[in-house]
Amino acid sequence: MAFFASCSGAKDPLDIDSPERQGTEETAKGKVLVAYFSFTGTTKSIATTLAGVTDGTLYEIVPEEAYASDNSNYYDESTRAYKEQYGPATARPAIKKTLENADSYDIIYLGCPIWYGKAPRLMLTFLDTYKFSGKTVVPFVTSGSSGIGTAQSEYESTYKDIKWKKGDRLNGASKATLSSWVESLK
Ligand SMILES: Cc1cc2nc3c(=O)[nH]c(=O)nc-3n(C[C@H](O)[C@H](O)[C@H](O)COP(=O)(O)O)c2cc1C
Repeated sequence: MAFFASCSGAKDPLDIDSPERQGTEETAKGKVLVAYFSFTGTTKSIATTLAGVTDGTLYEIVPEEAYASDNSNYYDESTRAYKEQYGPATARPAIKKTLENADSYDIIYLGCPIWYGKAPRLMLTFLDTYKFSGKTVVPFVTSGSSGIGTAQSEYESTYKDIKWKKGDRLNGASKATLSSWVESLK
């Protein structure tokens, strides 16, 4: 099993010093969304701290049909997670569409676990559903050991209208580490 199978500019909303960002506090900072999917809670913990650090809106991406606990056994090829991840790249498992005013956000931090080396197909459903064309999206992941590389490159090649920032694997990141990371993106 193939278990272990990266822009800035004057208008970058993360660049609070750019002339375009002068104005109200909200305009200066850019409105932040921290959207995440988490199966066992690790990504949720990071996303929650990140929302505090960025003063962002925390949003959980929820599958229409929850993944059963047997999906935790990622060596089991009969599970839904395995079949989705190794099935067609075009698979888009349904999500609950409850995000209000998706267009109002300037910066989206997008978090998920790594599943079989890449982002869960559910993340692509989210990106298909809400589009974020022209917006800045910063991906982040948690994993057992896999890096963000494959997820990042798939995001960038599939959603070319998004201004992608190079993201990171954030397992165990403290509030201070997340603050430094957010600063480093500016
Ligand atoms: C179905 C499944 C597949 C996984 N595949 C990988 C993988 O390819 N590489 C890896 O390092 N970790 C893998 N993991 C471990 C998770 O990425 C890791 O535990 C992650 O932090 C879980 O995040 P969560 O608690 O937010 O769901 C997998 C876990 C599951 C359940």
